[in-house]
Amino acid sequence: MACLFDPVNFGAIALPNRIMMAPLTRGRSDREAVPNELMARYYAQRASAGLIVTEATGISREGLGWPNAPGLWSDAQVEGWKLVTDAAHRAGGRIVAQLWHMGRLVHPDLGGGQPVSSSATTAPDYARTYEGKKSYVQARAATHDDIARIVGDYAHAARNAIRAGFDGVQVHGANGYLVDQFLRDGANFRTDEYGGSIANRLRFMTEVLEAVGGAIGIDRVGIRFSPNLESQGVEDSNPLPLFEAVARRLEELKVPWIELREPRLPTSSGVVPTPLVSPHMRRLYSGKIAINNDSDWTDAHRRVIDDEADAISVGRLFIANPDLVERIARGAPLNDGDSSTYYRGGAKGYVDYPLLGEAAAA
Ligand SMILES: Cc1cc2nc3c(=O)[nH]c(=O)nc-3n(C[C@H](O)[C@H](O)[C@H](O)COP(=O)(O)O)c2cc1C
Repeated sequence: MACLFDPVNFGAIALPNRIMMAPLTRGRSDREAVPNELMARYYAQRASAGLIVTEATGISREGLGWPNAPGLWSDAQVEGWKLVTDAAHRAGGRIVAQLWHMGRLVHPDLGGGQPVSSSATTAPDYARTYEGKKSYVQARAATHDDIARIVGDYAHAARNAIRAGFDGVQVHGANGYLVDQFLRDGANFRTDEYGGSIANRLRFMTEVLEAVGGAIGIDRVGIRFSPNLESQGVEDSNPLPLFEAVARRLEELKVPWIELREPRLPTSSGVVPTPLVSPHMRRLYSGKIAINNDSDWTDAHRRVIDDEADAISVGRLFIANPDLVERIARGAPLNDGDSSTYYRGGAKGYVDYPLLGEAAAA
């Protein structure tokens, strides 16, 4: 039976404990998507996590539609990320970059043109832009040339991640973004070899993982999914066979670790999950599995104890508790987060949460 404080290897990365920091978009970069010293401080404060997964990070201008989110396509971004990886490593941590193409969720004000997706669809709700919330526009279906270019952008960003000093990358395959828009039949209506059957819907993810693995070595690559949740209008009519096929494919590709955002109960935003797929994936996939339970890390912990998973991944509690690992170890009380500063702002609500024994900032 694994304990949260037992070490574990995720491919080439040796984690000293099994408490991961989940990817968390915080919107503190500049408009050129360049990371900075403030972000370096934030990540270094959380270096005791077994592994930090960064906030989602754009692989290209076209793929990044979130105000003040960072990127990994330019040299200036690589230089900015070096501040972060140096600080995290000096503090004793391990850090991987979450590689992001938002697909149809990129508003043209940010991406600079009509967004691309698997199919010509429009996301529900509203995009965040620098001028406030705006309706999404209809995406165009990616051509074969688009797909080849985007796959190349993933590989380029992965190489840049290594240049920037990251220990590896996590492909963002969750939450209704581009990889998910290809995987699930609620967003993929293609009739070519990238749509229709499950095998076809897996093709884009497979090409991305092969390209990223070819660029930096598959032992430094993980991927995240949200298999039992509808996300931003993306869902599947039959998640179990889809994610069983995903598990088989990841096994073939030798992807060493995955992270699943897989709640058992309705999420804090009210989305009702379908049944868990991780017990089925576990039987087909020999890599490591981290579970992000959405609001209840103790359930994820139980799944590690029961050997259904290898690690837990925690999001919001890491925002409010930089020393979360120590607090869990000691059973210490946890700070509450301020959701008004989750996605925007400066230092407040970002680098000023108190450590154990410190008083809260006024
Ligand atoms: C402020 C905020 C930003 C998030 N950003 C990302 C992100 O960049 N990439 C991602 O895959 N998930 C993102 N998520 C989802 C979290 O990683 C996590 O799955 C979710 O918060 C539920 O876990 P928790 O209850 O431990 O916070 C974000 C969630 C929040 C609250």
